[in-house]
Amino acid sequence: MKKHKIAIMGFGTVGGGAYDILTGNADHIRSTQGLDIEIAAILDRSVEPLKKRGVSENLFCDSVDALAADPDIELVIETMGGVRPTKDFIVKLLTAGKSVVTANKELLAKHWSELEPIARAHGCGLFFEASCVGGVPIIRALGESFQGDKVKRLYGIINGTTNYILSKMSSAGLSYEQALAQAQEKGFAEADPTSDVEGYDAAYKLSILASLAFHTCIPYTSIFREGITKVTARDIANAHELGYEIKLIAIGARDGDDVEARVHPLFVPKDHPLASVSGAYNAVYLNGDHVGDLMFYGAGAGAHPTGSAIVSDVVRALSAPPTYCDFRNDGKIDGAINAVGDFTSKYYIGMTVEDKAGVLSRVATVFGDNGVSIRSAIQRPCADDAATLVFLTHAAREHAVMRSLDTISKLGSVGSIDAMIRVL
Ligand code: NDP
Ligand code: HSE
Repeated sequence: MKKHKIAIMGFGTVGGGAYDILTGNADHIRSTQGLDIEIAAILDRSVEPLKKRGVSENLFCDSVDALAADPDIELVIETMGGVRPTKDFIVKLLTAGKSVVTANKELLAKHWSELEPIARAHGCGLFFEASCVGGVPIIRALGESFQGDKVKRLYGIINGTTNYILSKMSSAGLSYEQALAQAQEKGFAEADPTSDVEGYDAAYKLSILASLAFHTCIPYTSIFREGITKVTARDIANAHELGYEIKLIAIGARDGDDVEARVHPLFVPKDHPLASVSGAYNAVYLNGDHVGDLMFYGAGAGAHPTGSAIVSDVVRALSAPPTYCDFRNDGKIDGAINAVGDFTSKYYIGMTVEDKAGVLSRVATVFGDNGVSIRSAIQRPCADDAATLVFLTHAAREHAVMRSLDTISKLGSVGSIDAMIRVL
């Protein structure tokens, strides 16, 4: 049996997970896939990550040029993350004809269109199953299934770190900071967790998933994005009282040439299956015009689930000539596509007001003037002369709600607009 030599570039959480699977299940992969895979080199900043895992220091490599020049190495797993110098490293490897398997959604969302042609020109492949939804094989499903369907909508939880944080704040009463620290310890968070908590990571993933699903480029820059940093313990308590959980949700929808793509916190009814997706688990609903509704569910982050997706790409890359998927992501929206910014949603709105006659009716009048209909309102005293108001609206236009809140914030008797979270 031919030996396939490969390398790992970036030996942290995911690189380590892929290593564990490739070594621990080597016999299984050999017997079921007919592939004898040897990890011949590991690139990192220092030898320390190898030492920590008890891996032979002889595998350590500190030069991408050495990997690119090694004629025995067929494929490189890229699990360094980030854009610089990762993009330049991948260009060198693809140019040298090495296939690259990556988990790097930021790089793909920003530069896929530059990298894929290099892979094609040099007869190698660029594989990215691990970039979205961890161990769940959604990229392959989108690339290879539903050819007869027009995908109309995909939505769900596609960031493990924020789901972990919101779950722990909701069920264990952890503070935001405590929950984030745990997500970092467990290896779910990005090197800079701003990417997770401000929704960038989910926007990169939605750009990849929606571009594949809708067969058109949905640049990450065109995705409406709001993170979870403004979600408070009070919002979570209010959500519970009203029968909801708060989740960071990514939504992509296509209706003819109208495309909606957004990432933001959402009130999800407690009896909706997404409400019970907890910890670092992810779940994505997809609706096609013929297949109907599908749900993809599984671990969205972590060493071994993501490593499993990496290894599936390694096996695929080593088993057959590379194929190139129907995926455009060149940063530009097709001229025919209308990116919908003024979408429709229901809203949860919280504010602090003076507790005196006429305030509630003045606030309600502003909503009414803008065509925003209130479904329910709760008023609670919060100090001697102040009260909090919590509203749930019926479905309304985003811009109408924003206009209302702008006007309401300028009413003399309104102290602060404390929250505005969309409702599923
Ligand atoms: P880690 O930080 O755990 O691992 C990255 C490793 O690469 C570290 O050892 C890091 O060293 C090293 N590295 C970074 N830059 C360089 C460089 N320029 N030269 C040499 N070595 C470098 O990251 P993760 O494993 O968590 O993530 C890796 C990739 O996988 C990212 O693209 C991430 O988005 C993606 N991903 C992560 C998932 C997860 O659950 N963690 C899930 C799905 C995808 P140092 O620590 O010294 O910087
Ligand atoms: N930081 C990412 C997350 C890793 O939490 O979802 C998986 O892509």
